[in-house]
Amino acid sequence: MKHLVKTLAVLALMLGSVMASAQVVHVSTDNISIVLDARQGQPLRYIHAGKRISDRDVANLGTFGAMRSEVYPVFGHGNTGNYALAVRHQDGNMTLQMTVAGVSKEESNDAVVTRITLKDGFYPFKVDVCYRAYKDVDMIETWTEISHSEKKGVDLLRFDSAHLPFHVGDVWVSHLYGTWGDEGRLVQEPLNRGTLTIENRDGVRNSHTAHAEVMISLDGKPQENTGAVLGAALCYSGNYELDFITNDSDYHSLFAGINPKTSSLRLANGEVFKTPELAITYSDQGLSGASRNFHSWARAHKIAHGNVPRRVLLNSWEGVYFDINEAGMAQMMSDIADMGGELFVMDDGWFGEKYPRKDDTSSLGDWKVDRNKLPHGIQGLVDAARERGIKFGIWIEPEMANTVSELYEKHPDWIINASNRDIAKGRGGSQVILDLSNPKVQDYVFSIVDDLMTNYPDIAYIKWDANMTISSYGSQYLPADRQSELYIRYHQGFAAVCDRIRAKYPDLTIQACASGGGRASYGIMPWFDEFWVSDNTDALQRIYMQWGTSYFFPSITMASHISASPNHQTQRVVPVKFRADVAMSGRLGMEIQPRDMSESDIQQCKIAIADYKMVRDVVQFGDIYRLISPYDGKGLASMMYSTQDKSEAVLYMWKTEHFQDQRLPKVKLAGLDPDRLYTITELNKAVNGRPYMLEGKSFSGDFLMNVGIDMPQGGTNAYHSRVLRLKAE
Ligand code: GLA
Repeated sequence: MKHLVKTLAVLALMLGSVMASAQVVHVSTDNISIVLDARQGQPLRYIHAGKRISDRDVANLGTFGAMRSEVYPVFGHGNTGNYALAVRHQDGNMTLQMTVAGVSKEESNDAVVTRITLKDGFYPFKVDVCYRAYKDVDMIETWTEISHSEKKGVDLLRFDSAHLPFHVGDVWVSHLYGTWGDEGRLVQEPLNRGTLTIENRDGVRNSHTAHAEVMISLDGKPQENTGAVLGAALCYSGNYELDFITNDSDYHSLFAGINPKTSSLRLANGEVFKTPELAITYSDQGLSGASRNFHSWARAHKIAHGNVPRRVLLNSWEGVYFDINEAGMAQMMSDIADMGGELFVMDDGWFGEKYPRKDDTSSLGDWKVDRNKLPHGIQGLVDAARERGIKFGIWIEPEMANTVSELYEKHPDWIINASNRDIAKGRGGSQVILDLSNPKVQDYVFSIVDDLMTNYPDIAYIKWDANMTISSYGSQYLPADRQSELYIRYHQGFAAVCDRIRAKYPDLTIQACASGGGRASYGIMPWFDEFWVSDNTDALQRIYMQWGTSYFFPSITMASHISASPNHQTQRVVPVKFRADVAMSGRLGMEIQPRDMSESDIQQCKIAIADYKMVRDVVQFGDIYRLISPYDGKGLASMMYSTQDKSEAVLYMWKTEHFQDQRLPKVKLAGLDPDRLYTITELNKAVNGRPYMLEGKSFSGDFLMNVGIDMPQGGTNAYHSRVLRLKAE
């Protein structure tokens, strides 16, 4: 009897979950669950979003689960609240009424894609709400695919990627803000009643000021290594809008998507508009935990060559600016090769025949080598690099032209500018943007890379710059009734070009630069290996910028260069060890004229490069733990990377303030095995300095994490820093 009752109970439970599965959709990774009420003929609603919950709890929640928020609320009928989608049918009707028409799942090696089809009750209008749940990382990407078979086009007026609700409470948002030379600044603020909007309207680049990635601390003030955190990143290269809305309901709502301001789209019968993915993560190990999720996902799925170690390079920009010549390039190549570098990148100033590029006033668009500066052309440079045992890379700015260029003379109709208006000129008083909505321009931009790579297949690296914002809105290619699509069509064109480049040149390393950090975005990372964090290379300010950027982007994406002192942007005088110790926490490089460096500075850089190469895998592929934030004003910033198996770690400690009698906090490590012993070895030891006081000693992970170690004051040295390697015995 007892046995029968038990069997019946199990049967009931199984039946419950079978019944539930017909109407309850559970999208999950190891640690994240999104549970949806997807009853046929009903609006699609959230039951749960956040921490992973068990199938049993999902079954028991059933469709009566706590949340009643719609997943993809639409405008106009029965919904007076916020909406993710608004349209205008050609009969003038501006409403939608969407209900669930079907659910399907498709499994591949690395992910499960769930598709929930919503259909309108009257119009032949359809939205697929899609989720890609990865098997190997804690990340769920969600997007929508919008289509219709109405006779005439339907205007899309708002077309978010997703809506994500989370319960009201002491909820804080961490996001990045800044400007040229100060990108990636961390902002942390509580969500109060009203709307917090994070948006971009540059047109071309999208991360100088605001960033399209956020973290949401669900249980009070943000903590690095404890607490529940939702993370979200909109994977789009153009204008975006993220709205956090807090009204009189039980939920804060995040609406995220392409910025609908001044962008509407006419969708033709049969055309599918795919909104950019919103990548969602969850961690109960604080902000650093959410960062680790972003980083693992990025390396495995979202950036070019995420599992390939990055080379140590020298970039010519701050060393010689536009003053490119063959002997100078050869000298820089010899110097970086001598210091242990692996790649030399020739920056701006190498091109232009009719209009040689002497400064920023001309020549963009004329990607022919300036033979006066480089008599043996690019081949001469590629050969010179090979002779020195290093690789060669080159700078281009392919989306742009100058009005002083042969390209502009030939194709004035290729640039973006409003009709009946003066030409809006950017950098150098003559820079203009090419109209990537035009397929001919797409072919041309592709050909810039294609020609370089066909003629010089040994080019290993391209720095792809983009130094202008759309400041006169108008396409000479799009018809009058499609002008409102330019912002979006530009980025579709950009994506098409990048796809072609990657299909033909899968191994090329490409850096995204945009007046510094204008393109630190998951919208472009699938095609790019890394980005230039900022044109500001000042080591002290970089600590703040790289700290913020590390919230969402792994170290291998962050180009971080040792530059001259006094720094060219801030004039700050900083010892080379500190400059190197900061640069070593990202993708290490140099951006300096080595000829002007002192012998001892060169010696220090040699040590830095050799030591960096020794721990490159830990830094570039390790798990991040941020320990003491520079933003907390404690006089010290500290973070570390450790390997997944906790056998090795690299710890950074940088003094951020210098006052007489200042006491620095103890540094408590994280991400180690409490029961293992770790031996401390200092990296990038100061050429003439004293080694770290615990050099060569071993301590348990427990001691290092719970008691901690000291950062020496550094005497009168305002810029004292230490980098330590910890190796498990
Ligand atoms: C931009 C980039 C710099 C450099 C210059 C070249 O400003 O951010 O790194 O490449 O262009 O003109």
